[in-house]
Amino acid sequence: MADDIVKIKTIGVLTSGGDSPGMNAAIRAVARAAFHSNINVIGIKHGYYGLINDEFEKLDTHSVSNIIQRGGTTLKSARSEEFRTEEGRAKAAENLKKYEIDALVTIGGDGTFTGANKLSKEHGINVVGVPATIDNDIIGTDETIGYDTALNTALDAIDKIRDTADAHERMFLVEVMGRDTGFIALETGIASGAELALLPEELTHVDEVKEQLHDMLKQQRRSSLVVVAEGDETGGAMKLADNIKDDFSQYDVRVCILGHVQRGGAPTARDRVLASRLGAAAVNVLMEGHSEVMVGVVNNALKITPLRVAISKKKALDHTLIDLARVLR
Ligand code: F6P
Repeated sequence: MADDIVKIKTIGVLTSGGDSPGMNAAIRAVARAAFHSNINVIGIKHGYYGLINDEFEKLDTHSVSNIIQRGGTTLKSARSEEFRTEEGRAKAAENLKKYEIDALVTIGGDGTFTGANKLSKEHGINVVGVPATIDNDIIGTDETIGYDTALNTALDAIDKIRDTADAHERMFLVEVMGRDTGFIALETGIASGAELALLPEELTHVDEVKEQLHDMLKQQRRSSLVVVAEGDETGGAMKLADNIKDDFSQYDVRVCILGHVQRGGAPTARDRVLASRLGAAAVNVLMEGHSEVMVGVVNNALKITPLRVAISKKKALDHTLIDLARVLR
Protein backbone atom coordinates (compact mmCIF):
# COMPACT_ATOMS: atom_id res chain seq x y z
CA MET A 1 0.00 0.00 0.00
CA ALA A 2 1.32 3.43 -0.93
CA ASP A 3 1.29 6.16 1.73
CA ASP A 4 0.99 9.06 -0.71
CA ILE A 5 -2.15 10.08 -2.50
CA VAL A 6 -1.78 9.10 -6.16
CA LYS A 7 -2.83 11.69 -8.73
CA ILE A 8 -5.69 10.21 -10.69
CA LYS A 9 -7.43 12.38 -13.26
CA THR A 10 -9.91 10.00 -14.84
CA ILE A 11 -11.56 6.80 -13.66
CA GLY A 12 -13.50 4.37 -15.86
CA VAL A 13 -16.40 2.37 -14.40
CA LEU A 14 -18.25 -0.63 -15.78
CA THR A 15 -20.67 -3.37 -14.71
CA SER A 16 -20.15 -6.87 -16.02
CA GLY A 17 -21.58 -10.40 -15.79
CA GLY A 18 -24.99 -11.14 -14.26
CA ASP A 19 -26.57 -7.92 -13.00
CA SER A 20 -27.55 -7.51 -9.36
CA PRO A 21 -29.75 -5.01 -7.50
CA GLY A 22 -27.54 -2.24 -6.12
CA MET A 23 -25.22 -1.99 -9.13
CA ASN A 24 -26.70 1.44 -9.87
CA ALA A 25 -26.07 2.56 -6.30
CA ALA A 26 -22.45 1.44 -6.73
CA ILE A 27 -22.05 3.32 -10.04
CA ARG A 28 -23.47 6.43 -8.38
CA ALA A 29 -21.10 6.11 -5.42
CA VAL A 30 -18.05 5.68 -7.66
CA ALA A 31 -19.04 8.75 -9.65
CA ARG A 32 -19.96 10.97 -6.71
CA ALA A 33 -16.87 9.99 -4.67
CA ALA A 34 -14.67 10.69 -7.69
CA PHE A 35 -16.29 14.08 -8.36
CA HIS A 36 -15.77 14.93 -4.68
CA SER A 37 -12.02 14.53 -5.31
CA ASN A 38 -12.12 16.35 -8.66
CA ILE A 39 -11.67 13.16 -10.68
CA ASN A 40 -13.43 12.70 -14.04
CA VAL A 41 -15.52 9.59 -14.57
CA ILE A 42 -16.15 7.74 -17.81
CA GLY A 43 -18.91 5.13 -17.83
CA ILE A 44 -18.29 2.15 -20.09
CA LYS A 45 -21.46 0.52 -21.43
CA HIS A 46 -22.01 -3.24 -21.74
CA GLY A 47 -19.07 -4.23 -19.56
CA TYR A 48 -15.97 -5.61 -21.27
CA TYR A 49 -17.81 -5.72 -24.61
CA GLY A 50 -18.08 -1.92 -24.50
CA LEU A 51 -14.50 -1.60 -23.32
CA ILE A 52 -13.36 -3.35 -26.50
CA ASN A 53 -15.91 -1.69 -28.78
CA ASP A 54 -15.45 1.88 -27.61
CA GLU A 55 -18.76 2.43 -25.78
CA PHE A 56 -17.45 5.20 -23.53
CA GLU A 57 -19.45 8.12 -22.17
CA LYS A 58 -18.44 10.85 -19.77
CA LEU A 59 -20.56 10.89 -16.61
CA ASP A 60 -21.55 13.98 -14.67
CA THR A 61 -23.36 14.31 -11.38
CA HIS A 62 -26.74 14.32 -13.17
CA SER A 63 -26.03 11.09 -15.06
CA VAL A 64 -26.12 9.27 -11.75
CA SER A 65 -29.08 11.15 -10.25
CA ASN A 66 -32.19 9.20 -9.36
CA ILE A 67 -30.66 5.76 -9.95
CA ILE A 68 -29.81 4.63 -6.40
CA GLN A 69 -33.24 3.00 -6.04
CA ARG A 70 -33.30 1.25 -9.42
CA GLY A 71 -32.55 -2.40 -10.16
CA GLY A 72 -30.55 -3.47 -13.23
CA THR A 73 -27.62 -1.32 -14.33
CA THR A 74 -27.79 1.95 -16.23
CA LEU A 75 -24.39 1.07 -17.73
CA LYS A 76 -25.86 -2.25 -18.97
CA SER A 77 -24.08 -5.54 -18.59
CA ALA A 78 -22.85 -8.24 -20.94
CA ARG A 79 -20.62 -11.27 -21.09
CA SER A 80 -17.77 -10.83 -23.60
CA GLU A 81 -16.08 -13.85 -25.17
CA GLU A 82 -13.58 -11.55 -26.90
CA PHE A 83 -12.33 -10.17 -23.59
CA ARG A 84 -11.29 -13.70 -22.64
CA THR A 85 -8.65 -13.50 -25.40
CA GLU A 86 -5.33 -11.61 -25.20
CA GLU A 87 -6.22 -9.75 -28.41
CA GLY A 88 -9.51 -8.60 -26.90
CA ARG A 89 -7.83 -7.33 -23.76
CA ALA A 90 -5.19 -5.53 -25.87
CA LYS A 91 -7.98 -3.65 -27.70
CA ALA A 92 -9.57 -2.77 -24.35
CA ALA A 93 -6.24 -1.44 -23.03
CA GLU A 94 -5.77 0.69 -26.17
CA ASN A 95 -9.18 2.28 -25.63
CA LEU A 96 -8.41 3.02 -21.99
CA LYS A 97 -5.21 4.77 -23.07
CA LYS A 98 -7.02 6.65 -25.84
CA TYR A 99 -9.46 8.13 -23.30
CA GLU A 100 -6.59 8.76 -20.82
CA ILE A 101 -8.26 6.62 -18.17
CA ASP A 102 -5.87 6.14 -15.23
CA ALA A 103 -7.83 3.48 -13.40
CA LEU A 104 -10.80 1.18 -13.86
CA VAL A 105 -13.51 0.20 -11.36
CA THR A 106 -15.15 -3.09 -12.31
CA ILE A 107 -18.44 -3.95 -10.62
CA GLY A 108 -19.40 -7.63 -10.83
CA GLY A 109 -18.51 -11.14 -9.70
CA ASP A 110 -15.60 -13.53 -10.03
CA GLY A 111 -15.65 -13.63 -13.86
CA THR A 112 -15.46 -9.84 -13.90
CA PHE A 113 -12.54 -9.84 -11.46
CA THR A 114 -10.67 -12.53 -13.41
CA GLY A 115 -10.83 -10.31 -16.50
CA ALA A 116 -9.78 -7.19 -14.56
CA ASN A 117 -6.82 -9.00 -13.05
CA LYS A 118 -5.61 -10.13 -16.47
CA LEU A 119 -6.04 -6.64 -17.92
CA SER A 120 -3.90 -5.22 -15.14
CA LYS A 121 -1.20 -7.88 -15.35
CA GLU A 122 -0.90 -7.67 -19.15
CA HIS A 123 -1.25 -3.92 -19.66
CA GLY A 124 -0.45 -2.27 -16.33
CA ILE A 125 -3.96 -0.82 -15.95
CA ASN A 126 -4.90 0.08 -12.34
CA VAL A 127 -8.01 -1.88 -11.43
CA VAL A 128 -10.24 -2.29 -8.40
CA GLY A 129 -13.17 -4.67 -8.09
CA VAL A 130 -16.51 -4.01 -6.38
CA PRO A 131 -18.28 -7.33 -5.56
CA ALA A 132 -21.82 -7.39 -6.95
CA THR A 133 -23.63 -10.66 -7.55
CA ILE A 134 -26.79 -12.15 -6.10
CA ASP A 135 -24.88 -15.41 -5.54
CA ASN A 136 -22.85 -13.97 -2.61
CA ASP A 137 -20.01 -16.34 -3.52
CA ILE A 138 -17.05 -13.92 -3.33
CA ILE A 139 -14.52 -14.21 -0.51
CA GLY A 140 -13.27 -10.98 1.10
CA THR A 141 -16.71 -9.57 1.85
CA ASP A 142 -19.45 -10.75 4.19
CA GLU A 143 -22.05 -9.95 1.55
CA THR A 144 -21.98 -9.03 -2.10
CA ILE A 145 -24.13 -6.23 -3.53
CA GLY A 146 -27.52 -7.60 -4.56
CA TYR A 147 -27.55 -10.65 -2.32
CA ASP A 148 -29.79 -9.16 0.35
CA THR A 149 -32.32 -7.99 -2.24
CA ALA A 150 -32.36 -11.35 -4.03
CA LEU A 151 -32.80 -13.12 -0.71
CA ASN A 152 -35.80 -11.00 0.19
CA THR A 153 -37.32 -11.30 -3.28
CA ALA A 154 -37.02 -15.09 -3.13
CA LEU A 155 -38.35 -15.20 0.43
CA ASP A 156 -41.39 -13.12 -0.44
CA ALA A 157 -42.20 -15.56 -3.26
CA ILE A 158 -41.61 -18.62 -1.08
CA ASP A 159 -43.90 -17.28 1.66
CA LYS A 160 -46.64 -16.88 -0.94
CA ILE A 161 -46.06 -20.38 -2.24
CA ARG A 162 -46.35 -21.69 1.35
CA ASP A 163 -49.82 -20.15 1.62
CA THR A 164 -51.13 -21.98 -1.41
CA ALA A 165 -49.19 -25.17 -0.53
CA ASP A 166 -50.88 -25.12 2.85
CA ALA A 167 -54.34 -24.42 1.42
CA HIS A 168 -54.11 -27.40 -0.94
CA GLU A 169 -51.94 -29.59 1.28
CA ARG A 170 -49.37 -29.91 -1.49
CA MET A 171 -45.65 -30.40 -1.71
CA PHE A 172 -43.75 -27.64 -3.50
CA LEU A 173 -40.22 -27.80 -4.81
CA VAL A 174 -39.04 -24.20 -5.25
CA GLU A 175 -35.90 -23.61 -7.29
CA VAL A 176 -33.78 -20.59 -6.43
CA MET A 177 -30.68 -19.26 -8.20
CA GLY A 178 -27.20 -20.43 -7.35
CA ARG A 179 -25.33 -22.26 -10.08
CA ASP A 180 -22.37 -23.17 -7.88
CA THR A 181 -23.28 -21.99 -4.39
CA GLY A 182 -26.25 -22.34 -2.10
CA PHE A 183 -26.34 -19.05 -0.17
CA ILE A 184 -29.80 -18.09 -1.39
CA ALA A 185 -31.16 -21.62 -0.90
CA LEU A 186 -29.75 -21.98 2.61
CA GLU A 187 -30.88 -18.62 3.95
CA THR A 188 -34.31 -18.63 2.31
CA GLY A 189 -34.69 -22.19 3.58
CA ILE A 190 -34.09 -21.05 7.15
CA ALA A 191 -36.10 -17.84 6.83
CA SER A 192 -39.13 -19.56 5.28
CA GLY A 193 -39.11 -22.56 7.60
CA ALA A 194 -38.69 -24.89 4.63
CA GLU A 195 -38.71 -28.63 5.28
CA LEU A 196 -35.47 -29.04 3.31
CA ALA A 197 -32.91 -26.87 1.52
CA LEU A 198 -30.82 -28.65 -1.11
CA LEU A 199 -27.44 -27.07 -1.73
CA PRO A 200 -24.73 -27.59 -4.38
CA GLU A 201 -22.16 -27.74 -1.57
CA GLU A 202 -23.77 -30.79 0.05
CA LEU A 203 -24.12 -34.26 -1.48
CA THR A 204 -27.82 -34.89 -2.09
CA HIS A 205 -29.07 -38.45 -2.53
CA VAL A 206 -32.60 -38.59 -3.87
CA ASP A 207 -33.37 -41.60 -1.65
CA GLU A 208 -32.35 -39.64 1.44
CA VAL A 209 -34.50 -36.72 0.36
CA LYS A 210 -37.48 -39.07 0.03
CA GLU A 211 -36.78 -40.63 3.41
CA GLN A 212 -36.49 -37.26 5.16
CA LEU A 213 -39.69 -36.01 3.57
CA HIS A 214 -41.55 -39.20 4.52
CA ASP A 215 -40.37 -38.83 8.13
CA MET A 216 -41.52 -35.22 8.29
CA LEU A 217 -44.86 -35.96 6.69
CA LYS A 218 -45.49 -38.62 9.31
CA GLN A 219 -45.39 -35.79 11.89
CA GLN A 220 -48.79 -34.48 10.79
CA ARG A 221 -47.37 -31.94 8.33
CA ARG A 222 -49.97 -31.06 5.78
CA SER A 223 -47.81 -29.18 3.29
CA SER A 224 -44.14 -29.26 2.59
CA LEU A 225 -41.72 -26.97 0.94
CA VAL A 226 -38.31 -27.88 -0.40
CA VAL A 227 -35.95 -25.12 -1.55
CA VAL A 228 -33.62 -26.38 -4.28
CA ALA A 229 -30.57 -24.44 -5.47
CA GLU A 230 -30.43 -24.53 -9.28
CA GLY A 231 -26.93 -26.05 -9.10
CA ASP A 232 -27.87 -28.84 -6.72
CA GLU A 233 -26.70 -32.20 -7.97
CA THR A 234 -30.26 -33.53 -8.13
CA GLY A 235 -30.44 -31.48 -11.34
CA GLY A 236 -32.83 -28.80 -10.08
CA ALA A 237 -36.44 -28.77 -8.94
CA MET A 238 -38.01 -30.08 -12.14
CA LYS A 239 -35.80 -33.15 -12.32
CA LEU A 240 -36.16 -33.81 -8.61
CA ALA A 241 -39.95 -33.64 -8.92
CA ASP A 242 -39.84 -36.26 -11.68
CA ASN A 243 -37.78 -38.49 -9.41
CA ILE A 244 -39.93 -38.22 -6.29
CA LYS A 245 -43.49 -37.48 -7.40
CA ASP A 246 -44.63 -41.13 -7.55
CA ASP A 247 -43.64 -41.59 -3.91
CA PHE A 248 -45.66 -38.56 -2.81
CA SER A 249 -48.69 -38.75 -5.11
CA GLN A 250 -51.05 -37.93 -2.23
CA TYR A 251 -49.36 -34.50 -1.93
CA ASP A 252 -49.68 -33.49 -5.58
CA VAL A 253 -46.04 -32.38 -6.02
CA ARG A 254 -45.65 -29.01 -7.74
CA VAL A 255 -42.62 -27.06 -8.94
CA CYS A 256 -41.95 -23.34 -9.02
CA ILE A 257 -38.74 -21.97 -10.57
CA LEU A 258 -38.15 -18.42 -9.36
CA GLY A 259 -35.48 -17.67 -11.98
CA HIS A 260 -34.55 -14.14 -13.00
CA VAL A 261 -37.16 -12.50 -10.82
CA GLN A 262 -34.43 -12.81 -8.19
CA ARG A 263 -32.06 -10.60 -10.18
CA GLY A 264 -34.41 -7.63 -10.55
CA GLY A 265 -36.20 -5.10 -8.41
CA ALA A 266 -35.33 -2.14 -6.23
CA PRO A 267 -32.33 -2.82 -3.99
CA THR A 268 -32.99 -3.11 -0.26
CA ALA A 269 -31.69 -0.41 2.08
CA ARG A 270 -28.87 -2.76 3.12
CA ASP A 271 -27.75 -3.26 -0.50
CA ARG A 272 -27.91 0.47 -1.23
CA VAL A 273 -25.74 1.26 1.79
CA LEU A 274 -23.29 -1.54 1.00
CA ALA A 275 -23.03 -0.41 -2.64
CA SER A 276 -22.53 3.21 -1.53
CA ARG A 277 -19.75 2.23 0.86
CA LEU A 278 -17.98 -0.03 -1.62
CA GLY A 279 -18.28 2.33 -4.61
CA ALA A 280 -16.73 5.19 -2.62
CA ALA A 281 -14.10 2.86 -1.14
CA ALA A 282 -13.06 1.78 -4.65
CA VAL A 283 -12.20 5.38 -5.53
CA ASN A 284 -10.38 5.92 -2.24
CA VAL A 285 -8.20 2.83 -2.56
CA LEU A 286 -7.23 3.81 -6.10
CA MET A 287 -6.20 7.24 -4.80
CA GLU A 288 -4.15 5.50 -2.11
CA GLY A 289 -2.23 3.70 -4.85
CA HIS A 290 -3.77 0.24 -4.67
CA SER A 291 -4.48 -1.85 -7.73
CA GLU A 292 -5.52 -5.46 -8.46
CA VAL A 293 -7.64 -5.46 -5.31
CA MET A 294 -11.27 -5.89 -4.39
CA VAL A 295 -13.05 -3.84 -1.74
CA GLY A 296 -15.36 -5.59 0.70
CA VAL A 297 -17.01 -5.21 4.09
CA VAL A 298 -16.07 -7.76 6.76
CA ASN A 299 -17.44 -7.41 10.31
CA ASN A 300 -18.71 -3.97 9.33
CA ALA A 301 -15.23 -2.70 8.42
CA LEU A 302 -13.89 -2.03 4.94
CA LYS A 303 -11.43 -4.64 3.80
CA ILE A 304 -9.10 -4.86 0.80
CA THR A 305 -8.44 -8.28 -0.74
CA PRO A 306 -6.06 -8.95 -3.65
CA LEU A 307 -8.04 -9.89 -6.76
CA ARG A 308 -5.98 -13.06 -7.14
CA VAL A 309 -7.23 -14.15 -3.70
CA ALA A 310 -10.83 -13.11 -4.40
CA ILE A 311 -10.93 -15.27 -7.53
CA SER A 312 -8.97 -18.20 -6.11
CA LYS A 313 -12.01 -19.98 -4.66
CA LYS A 314 -15.71 -19.62 -3.95
CA LYS A 315 -16.84 -18.43 -0.52
CA ALA A 316 -17.88 -21.36 1.68
CA LEU A 317 -21.29 -21.61 3.33
CA ASP A 318 -21.44 -21.16 7.09
CA HIS A 319 -21.72 -24.71 8.44
CA THR A 320 -23.40 -23.54 11.62
CA LEU A 321 -26.29 -22.33 9.43
CA ILE A 322 -26.51 -25.68 7.65
CA ASP A 323 -26.72 -27.39 11.06
CA LEU A 324 -29.29 -24.85 12.25
CA ALA A 325 -31.49 -25.52 9.22
CA ARG A 326 -31.44 -29.25 10.12
CA VAL A 327 -32.34 -28.64 13.76
CA LEU A 328 -35.20 -26.27 13.01
CA ARG A 329 -36.94 -28.08 10.18
O1 F6P B 1 -26.05 -13.76 -11.24
C1 F6P B 1 -25.68 -15.05 -10.87
C2 F6P B 1 -26.57 -16.03 -11.51
O2 F6P B 1 -27.83 -15.57 -11.17
C3 F6P B 1 -26.50 -17.50 -11.19
O3 F6P B 1 -27.03 -17.90 -9.97
C4 F6P B 1 -27.22 -18.08 -12.38
O4 F6P B 1 -26.95 -19.39 -12.60
C5 F6P B 1 -26.71 -17.22 -13.47
O5 F6P B 1 -26.44 -15.97 -12.91
C6 F6P B 1 -27.60 -17.08 -14.66
O6 F6P B 1 -27.10 -16.07 -15.47
P1 F6P B 1 -27.63 -15.70 -16.91
O7 F6P B 1 -29.09 -15.60 -16.79
O8 F6P B 1 -27.00 -14.39 -17.20
O9 F6P B 1 -27.16 -16.78 -17.80
